[in-house]
Amino acid sequence: QIAIMNCFGLLLLFHVASSVKHSLRYFLTATHGVHDFPEFFGAATVDEVQVGYCDSNIKTAKPKQDWMMKLIERNPEHLEWYSQKCLGSQHVFRANIDILKQRLNLTKGPHILQRMNGCEWDDETGEVIGFNQYGYNGEDFLALDLKTLTWTAPKSQAVLTKLIWDGEKARLEHNKNYYIYKCPDWLKNYIRHGKSFLQRTVHPSVSLLQKTPSSVVTCHATGFYPERATMFWRKDGQELHEGVEKGEILPNNDGTFQMSVDLNISSVTAEDWRRYDCIFLFAGLKDSITTRLDRTMIRTNQDESSQIRIVIAVISVVIAIIIIAVAFTAYKKRNGKSTLKLDSSSNLIKYKLNKIN
Ligand SMILES: *[C@@H]1O[C@H](CO)[C@@H](O)[C@H](O)[C@H]1NC(C)=O
Ligand SMILES: *[C@@H]1O[C@H](CO)[C@@H](O)[C@H](O)[C@H]1NC(C)=O
Repeated sequence: QIAIMNCFGLLLLFHVASSVKHSLRYFLTATHGVHDFPEFFGAATVDEVQVGYCDSNIKTAKPKQDWMMKLIERNPEHLEWYSQKCLGSQHVFRANIDILKQRLNLTKGPHILQRMNGCEWDDETGEVIGFNQYGYNGEDFLALDLKTLTWTAPKSQAVLTKLIWDGEKARLEHNKNYYIYKCPDWLKNYIRHGKSFLQRTVHPSVSLLQKTPSSVVTCHATGFYPERATMFWRKDGQELHEGVEKGEILPNNDGTFQMSVDLNISSVTAEDWRRYDCIFLFAGLKDSITTRLDRTMIRTNQDESSQIRIVIAVISVVIAIIIIAVAFTAYKKRNGKSTLKLDSSSNLIKYKLNKIN
């Protein structure tokens, strides 16, 4: 059996960004009564790559990625600003958890309050979109509508908080200014400094994994950049949909990404194996990475137990990092129902609380 560490987690799914859309996002998570998890954690991403973080243990903001470290070296006050914000938010979030616990009559823990805010900028049209939304215990709680400058409550238990927050006019005005001017300014500045990093292409290493001979075969690609990529299984050169399960694109700690796609091979006969292959493809690029379904290439628990354990351990560590780093699920929902609508760009955001076993 593969032992994946048992942790309490929140998974991120990326929305599909077009090639000209840039984003700056901040993810803040405050927890109360969650074991082995910092009480407060913050992360910043530029174009879905984590560029900084802070938490209640280190008590200061830290940059990630070489280009962001260089930018910070030249502007130490920028980091200082983030450290102050991090500390301030920690207290505000803690207080908000206490208020919400009472307001929602929740006596039992754990409690998790999250915020995702930031902006997107389209470098072709110049369009800017700001967003600021909260989640409580893994569910949508409140989202700011910048057009009407009011909060949107998807569930009845958030209505009271919405009404109170709607009355805080100064805070709302401050929010508006921030999302329309400051956030896109910073985003553009970051994009300028990170240009060569953010415009590079790094191909992944692709491997086939299988837990047991009766399990699905997982085609796993890791170490790629940018995140605008797809992966799928083919049979006789045709994309397969049946028996295929696509995973999410997840960030690695080093600014690259990983993803996987499972193939159910229970009804595939031995002689048919060679008709299948797994394709990795960057959006907008022609060259693909083809991996043939080949029993000798599969890494399994059975024959290479230590190797697969290492792979799985790495994956679970990555998952843990992702959980901490980016605690929201953001995705473009296919049927468009029951999720919070953020803005005219139809980016739908949802967050999910998953227990990873
Ligand atoms: C919480 O409990 C109080 C008193 O028992 C009750 O009046 C109130 O409606 C409850 N609030 C919610 C959100 O359930
Ligand atoms: C694979 O497909 C078979 C039959 O179609 C099904 O019974 C089985 O549950 C599937 N396995 C997985 C892991 O989804």
